[in-house]
Amino acid sequence: MTTSFSFMTIDAAARRVSLDARDPAFYGDPNPVYAALHAHCPTFFWEEQKLWYVSGYDQVNALLRDRRFGRQILHVASREALGMAPPLPHLRHFDAAEAWSLLELEPPEHTRLRTLVNRAFVSRQIERLTPEITALANRLIDGFVKDGRVELLSAFADVLPVTMIARMIGIPDEMGPQLLKWSHAYVRMYMFGRTETDEHAADRAAAEFADYVRTVIAERRARPGDDLLTHMIHTEHKGQFLSEDELISTTIVLLNAGHEATVHQIGNAVRSILDSGLPVGPMFADGRATERTVEECLRISAPVHIFQRYALEEVELDGIRFRRGDKVALILAAANLDPKKFSDPLTFRPARDEGPNLSFGAGIHFCIGAPLARLELAIALPLLFKRLPKMRLAAKPAVKDVYHFHGLERLDLAW
Ligand code: HEM
Repeated sequence: MTTSFSFMTIDAAARRVSLDARDPAFYGDPNPVYAALHAHCPTFFWEEQKLWYVSGYDQVNALLRDRRFGRQILHVASREALGMAPPLPHLRHFDAAEAWSLLELEPPEHTRLRTLVNRAFVSRQIERLTPEITALANRLIDGFVKDGRVELLSAFADVLPVTMIARMIGIPDEMGPQLLKWSHAYVRMYMFGRTETDEHAADRAAAEFADYVRTVIAERRARPGDDLLTHMIHTEHKGQFLSEDELISTTIVLLNAGHEATVHQIGNAVRSILDSGLPVGPMFADGRATERTVEECLRISAPVHIFQRYALEEVELDGIRFRRGDKVALILAAANLDPKKFSDPLTFRPARDEGPNLSFGAGIHFCIGAPLARLELAIALPLLFKRLPKMRLAAKPAVKDVYHFHGLERLDLAW
């Protein structure tokens, strides 16, 4: 069947969907498309991506926790056995930086590394950052409050998360702009339609990033500080210290994963609130109301829409047979809009209390930075609306052409 969207056709009987991810009408506002998929074909083969996609809340939630699927496959089978292409020589620095990334590991390696960094990210520890995040957010707002207008992403959203994660790790604030450059080049690797030029840029960024982290590790070995990197260097797990490569990968994944999504989410949340036209006062009336508003923003405009898994063994799921090594993609942002889970799912309802959204994932890879991202949002959003009560959109924001990430090109505001 065709749908009311010019860029999508759904063959519900065969569970096949043709959808142009580069069409601005889609990536600019994917939520109505997700609603159509829920109505006609929540599990489907996406012709252009040549992969099965799952969008139902219960299915995505179960798959994220299903140990028959993993983010990695090479711990259970070789490339040759799986018929996988050999690693690309021009990505060797990138691959080296990824080798010990939490996101690329499965137990027992994953458990060992995650245990070592987890303590720093639990809510109790993160809450201690409240005064520092508040002071930084206030200082950034001080910088533009008198101007009557601002491009919020560059003046605020880009700066807050990278500064906080860098400080936690023990990297000076001045490195912020450079970290952003490396990170932007690096994360292009995860986007639809990456080119060889992107790959070369990502590899260069990985090489420079790793060299820089190596120098910071050497400094911390010589002069320990009160920061996460020092803690990682000196903490052992079952008698073993982290190797230099493990330290570098872990630092890079924390720095990259640690801000990119939060930057987008600050922009998406401000836009969702302004677009709703609802009174802002009740959204931030107290801690509980703020928490629900933050969750509703994460539900309805998640910053990262898709994550993938490998089948680690032969599995049948929703009537589809996966062989070992096959991939399946999970649309977290669509799961958040499943009408079986959330009532009137396309409507922004800040007081909604219908259970967790899946924007931070679930299971063993559940976002380690969720308490930090939630705290940054719970501080930044009320503060922005309190200090700039007349804030409004100065221009219709354009969404970046980087599906499956969902973030704005710019967010021009005036008051
Ligand atoms: C709104 C902001 C954020 C969103 C929506 C988000 C989303 C996610 C999601 C969905 C995953 C799981 C991926 C999967 O299962 O395949 C994940 C993992 C991860 N996130 Fe976040 N994230 C955010 C902010 C952060 C921050 C601030 C940090 C800083 C430390 C961070 C660090 C990580 C790391 C290290 C992982 C890998 C965890 C593991 O594999 O064990 N994220 N994130």
